[in-house]
Amino acid sequence: MFALTQEQLALQARARELAQSDVKARAAEVDRTEQYPWDNVERLKEAGFLGMTIPRDYGGQGLGWLEAVLVTEQMSQACSVTGRIAVETNMGAISAVMAYGSHEQKQLAARMVLEGDKPAICITEPGAGSSATEMTTRADKRGNRYVINGSKHWITGGGVSRLHLIFARVYDEKGEEEGIGGFLAIRDETEGLKIVGREPTMGLRGIPEAEIAFEDMEVPPSALVMPPRGLKKGFADLMNAYNSQRVGAATVALGIAQGAYQLALDWSGKREQFGRPIDEFQGIQWKLADMSIKLAASQALIYKAASSAPAGGFPDMVMAAQAKVFTSESAIEVANQALQIFGARGYSRNNPVERMVRDVRMFTIGGGTAEILRTVVAGGILNKKLPQTRDGYVKRSAAE
Ligand code: FAD
Ligand code: COA
Repeated sequence: MFALTQEQLALQARARELAQSDVKARAAEVDRTEQYPWDNVERLKEAGFLGMTIPRDYGGQGLGWLEAVLVTEQMSQACSVTGRIAVETNMGAISAVMAYGSHEQKQLAARMVLEGDKPAICITEPGAGSSATEMTTRADKRGNRYVINGSKHWITGGGVSRLHLIFARVYDEKGEEEGIGGFLAIRDETEGLKIVGREPTMGLRGIPEAEIAFEDMEVPPSALVMPPRGLKKGFADLMNAYNSQRVGAATVALGIAQGAYQLALDWSGKREQFGRPIDEFQGIQWKLADMSIKLAASQALIYKAASSAPAGGFPDMVMAAQAKVFTSESAIEVANQALQIFGARGYSRNNPVERMVRDVRMFTIGGGTAEILRTVVAGGILNKKLPQTRDGYVKRSAAE
């Protein structure tokens, strides 16, 4: 067991209490209505769980990634959408702005998050998913403005988030490319930012996944949070910060799987077949044992990755990827086995396990797929750059 401090245990207990009462009670409705749970945002805000990682100078609590993980884990056991809100108000876009932004940018982002906004991070495009550096959204410098054109896809919170951190290829006045940079824009304030449509998702239905278009969207140079600094340096800053979000995503998957496991464990002691509780069958016992092992290992990897950050820095790239690959794949297996233990009852939409199986499925995809993250791990352990582009691949001719 990871040794948590008294303060961390107290934080965890507070998060558990909130999660297991009001948050849990709303989870099925959030899924059914597909409505963003603004009431849970208020609850997180009142409890001081929004913007915990924001430095005190900017109104936050200056807490670390592990604290954000502890709160996220509890929320996700009860309601995965609320768990994701906990991640994205403490990690990801907000952490990137707090690390790389100007004083004014940090003030703006901190205020918005502490008031209840979940910032959106806009990287993925229809033509650039895993190959994010192939993005084509462009920001052209025109006098004292950048003019941004392009579109982003699968943006979590699109339509509910106000603050957007948008990545684009930056071009100077002469049309020369400077690399990828990150800009801030605010929905309903920055003209030209348009929510185009919402994806009908399999799970996590209470939080929208949207397509966003930028049509001659003009922002001042002061909106540039992460300057390109050479073709990929601005992008490397983004990915460095993004390691925190990968740990957060892994934590949501863990929490969902823990919730499903607990329900299955309880049920296996109650359900009787052949005149005995089903937990007396070795087939069920071994399932439960495997599930508990996967959960314990996932939690250890996540806590380790969350604790790997240097002071004021981000979780280690390889540890974050290891935690996300293992946890996301394990959590899908655990949730599925939980459903299996319920038999037919697990297949009913009246059972929270059915929702958990749907909700957990996305974590091997969003935030870097399990395949891409294995490449990140391999690059780290081999200490090699592993470009995935076609250059260097030579197709053998039929005669060879
Ligand atoms: P593709 O890149 O098209 O990949 C298709 C398949 O090919 C995958 O299995 C992939 O692993 C595999 N593949 C691709 N390249 C390689 C390779 N080199 N080696 C081995 N296999 C490979 N994006 C944002 O910017 N902001 C968000 O807020 C956001 N939220 C998301 C929320 C959800 C619920 C989901 C599902 C996605 C979200 N995304 C977001 C997008 C997400 O980051 C991308 O889906 C992800 O990076 C993969 O891109 P893709 O879906 O285009 O898959
Ligand atoms: N942490 C820190 N730095 C990272 C990083 C990470 N997780 N991933 C990449 N970088 C750095 C690289 O070290 C490199 O910096 P360098 O040029 O100083 O060495 C720079 O970012 C570019 O990375 P590289 O691997 O050369 O980019 P690529 O063009 O081959 O693209 C990625 C590969 C990074 C896009 C791919 O590995 C990836 O992560 N895809 C998933 C995208 C994703 O998670 N989207 C989520 C959207 S919400």
